[in-house]
Amino acid sequence: MDRPYVVLGVSSSLDGRISLGPNRTLMDIDERDDVLGNRDEWEEFYSSLQKKHDIDVFMEGSNMLVKETEELRELERYQGNEDELYHDFLPHEVVDRPGRTGWLAVVDGRGRVRGGYTGEEDKPMLHLVSRRVPPEYLHFLRKSNIPYLIAGEKRVDLALALEKMVDKLGAKAVLTSSGGRLSGALLKKGLLDEIHIRFNPVIIGGFDTPSLFASPDIEEGEWPTQLEFIEGEVTDTGHIFVRYRVKR
Ligand SMILES: NC(=O)c1ccc[n+]([C@@H]2O[C@H](COP(=O)([O-])OP(=O)(O)OC[C@H]3O[C@@H](n4cnc5c(N)ncnc54)[C@H](OP(=O)(O)O)[C@@H]3O)[C@@H](O)[C@H]2O)c1
Repeated sequence: MDRPYVVLGVSSSLDGRISLGPNRTLMDIDERDDVLGNRDEWEEFYSSLQKKHDIDVFMEGSNMLVKETEELRELERYQGNEDELYHDFLPHEVVDRPGRTGWLAVVDGRGRVRGGYTGEEDKPMLHLVSRRVPPEYLHFLRKSNIPYLIAGEKRVDLALALEKMVDKLGAKAVLTSSGGRLSGALLKKGLLDEIHIRFNPVIIGGFDTPSLFASPDIEEGEWPTQLEFIEGEVTDTGHIFVRYRVKR
């Protein structure tokens, strides 16, 4: 296989909502979000998936970090040769850092994640960007020593980004807890291998609340994605854990 094994791990209400409402980022999380799992439960869910699949890349969508409506931070104007920026940036001191065990990757096709977070000592940040991002943004990442891979023209070409992760970084398995749009895109493109969902005994509703998989409606004659059940468990607290393999 020329791409890593890709696993989705997500916590959902019984009605498939993965957030309490639209446009909520990590910054908006409050105690009500515990209906989808508190911090300890998340850590337990995640570390079980990490161990099961020997995960080395944790991948998120940009909407988890930046609201669609958010005004973006102005970046310093770049006056150098732009062509030099539109190449993958994988600084040796980050890639080969002693103790590095993986990556925290964010899909950021428009260059909106501008906080400058460099990740954890053992898992640095890796931005996955398209050629559409402005040079100022790439310059900013370089100055902040944040690695990036370029894949795609207007959006991140997810298949290519995953292939580059293998070729350039030796990635083996990706765990994404992506929001619904990224999960929907990965699923539609045949890039998801396994799906783990923790269903919580709660219904959230909402017409615009992010749901498990958001992608264009299936077309006339197109088949829904078929899944193969692997395992499941119902707990005393009424949570349902399910694991499926995506059929090809
Ligand atoms: N309960 C849970 O387990 C859980 C887990 C994660 C997130 N969440 C919640 O989910 C919400 C975010 O979900 P969301 O659906 O709004 O956003 P999202 O899944 O974060 O999707 C947005 C990201 O996916 C990229 N993307 C979407 N379609 C694409 C395509 N066809 N090709 C390439 N890239 C594509 C976007 O790229 P561009 O940058 O180019 O637009 C953007 O980076 C947040 O509220 C978050 O808290 C919940």
